[in-house]
Amino acid sequence: MGIITSIEDLRVLAKRRVPRMFYDYADAGSWTESTYRANGDDFAKIKFRQRVAVNLEHRTLRSTMVGQPVAMPVALAPTGLTGMQHADGEILAARAAEKFGVPFTLSTMSICSIEDVAAHTSAPFWFQLYVMKDRDFIERLIERARAAQCSALVLTLDLQVLGQRHKDLRNGLSAPPKMTLATVLNLLSKPRWGLRMLGTRRHGFGNIIGHAKSVSDMSSLSAWTTQQFDPALSWDDVEWIKRRWGGTLIIKGIMDPDDARLAANSGADALIVSNHGGRQLDGAPSSIAALPAIVEAVGSRIEVHMDGGVRSGQDVIRALALGAKGVYIGRPFLYGLGALGEAGVTTCLEIIRNELDLTMAFCGLRDVNDVDRRILLPGTIPGG
Ligand code: GLV
Repeated sequence: MGIITSIEDLRVLAKRRVPRMFYDYADAGSWTESTYRANGDDFAKIKFRQRVAVNLEHRTLRSTMVGQPVAMPVALAPTGLTGMQHADGEILAARAAEKFGVPFTLSTMSICSIEDVAAHTSAPFWFQLYVMKDRDFIERLIERARAAQCSALVLTLDLQVLGQRHKDLRNGLSAPPKMTLATVLNLLSKPRWGLRMLGTRRHGFGNIIGHAKSVSDMSSLSAWTTQQFDPALSWDDVEWIKRRWGGTLIIKGIMDPDDARLAANSGADALIVSNHGGRQLDGAPSSIAALPAIVEAVGSRIEVHMDGGVRSGQDVIRALALGAKGVYIGRPFLYGLGALGEAGVTTCLEIIRNELDLTMAFCGLRDVNDVDRRILLPGTIPGG
């Protein structure tokens, strides 16, 4: 592998190094993957206004997300099975984020547990919560996040049922991997991944195993989700979770202005415009196309963040220009992790930072907090 210059370089390297089952899990969208593709394609349509001969000295990307200082307004998204992209993946990614000065969000479906990540980092991280039927378990998860001093709870509302991802069905996705002949042959072609996995004891869902009662079927993510996740989740539950947590609350999975109003009414501190990376409702619009109407509906009442399709610092600034106060990257950091471990996540963040900084400069701005619609060419904004 030559020099790494883009997120795409990290993706190509990750694809070579990570077993197919887990690379595909990260990369997949649901059904036809049309929403997954739209997330990226719609970003590419948005054009910038180049400005010249303005002073570009002393540029800054420093900002805040939910009142917390960030080196740039980018957070690592919660992603399931991160510790299967690379041994101890969540700890490595959290460390890279901490050193860089951006938030790391630990998924409920992580391999390393809340306590384990807390023990190996010093900056507070964010915890993403899925609501399961077993409310005792949810109460304890919230308590565990509090005990680990997580500084925000990210409540995901768009996964009461799991989107069908064809690649996962074909690969028989499971953690740890089921040893079919095809899986074994594929694992043998990824020796670095395998050796590192042999060197860690973190192979299952760290937040769940030993903590949740009656979790019998962990073999398949979809069977397990059907069995455990609560299809009856409602805004009353959001209220209950907000009360139990008592701290900074971010609601994830909002795609419609009506839901955005309900999220704002719930008293949450921020919402994330998200179609779950195109992994849930295929045929939903891209996140960037959904963003403007949501900012318009609730932007004065609640902080609006977004995720989905971000593959560069240019995409980050496009989202900021359309009113997002923060942007999450999921697959880009997973590619970095799968390619090069902690150093790969750092490289991912550096690439995004440099692209964001230079694009801001080309648009004639010095402070990321001044970015708004004026840097975009009108008529090139999907949904806007
Ligand atoms: C879970 O969060 C998934 O999208 O697989």
